[in-house]
Amino acid sequence: MKIIKLNATNSTNSFLKELGQDTALENFTIVVTNEQKKGRGQQDSQWVSEPFKNLTFSVFTNEFDLEIRHQKYLNFAISLALFNTLSSHKIPNLSIKWPNDILSANKKICGILIENNIKGPKINSSIIGVGLNVNQERFLDSLNNVSSLKNICNLEFDLDLLLLEIIKNLKKTIHLLLLNEYLKLETDYLNALYKKNIPAMFKDKNGLLFMGKIIGVSKYGSLQLELEDETIKEFGVKEISFL
Ligand code: BTN
Repeated sequence: MKIIKLNATNSTNSFLKELGQDTALENFTIVVTNEQKKGRGQQDSQWVSEPFKNLTFSVFTNEFDLEIRHQKYLNFAISLALFNTLSSHKIPNLSIKWPNDILSANKKICGILIENNIKGPKINSSIIGVGLNVNQERFLDSLNNVSSLKNICNLEFDLDLLLLEIIKNLKKTIHLLLLNEYLKLETDYLNALYKKNIPAMFKDKNGLLFMGKIIGVSKYGSLQLELEDETIKEFGVKEISFL
């Protein structure tokens, strides 16, 4: 394991990607920065994080030899590493919002951006980017469903210690992946899943609102909903949003 600490960079995911083009990266090379100038989120969104207050880091790993058809288990493993770390700090009302946001009391406190390098039918390596809102107290008004550990717990957290705990838990859950413990990963993930089995309102890609109940995640990682007429439908990340 190797930790590279930066004062500022555009994006720790981009930093690792570029570094990996010049040199062969050691498994579990980690880049953490005090400030990201162009933090990237899912679906080409931006990740904005107050400098020095939060964790923004990325982990390179190439130790697993995962088939693309098992990709969802990598997402389960990573989401659970964050969920388990925060659980051990007794952060209240934790859940994983599909596919991989971590919520506390229905507010997003952590986002994950996984970028895989695919070779043939396998995931050759991954860059796992994590943005965890830790000690930030003020957020833009436009971000009304976002919070931080400090706002929720009234406590200041040590960023270095938290990072080491997350890495330890990532190693544990990735180890489960190496052991093909898919059932355990899926069970733990589904137990933590936000709004599982609770009728809720969703929006489809055309902006249409509808009621449904999350019942699970499909073989290839889509969200499975049971609709009001009791039919089961699957949605990809670009096809559905939560209300
Ligand atoms: C999301 O949209 O929820 C995913 C956010 C991921 C943000 C992290 S911060 C560290 C790493 N570097 C990036 O540019 N993005 C990820």
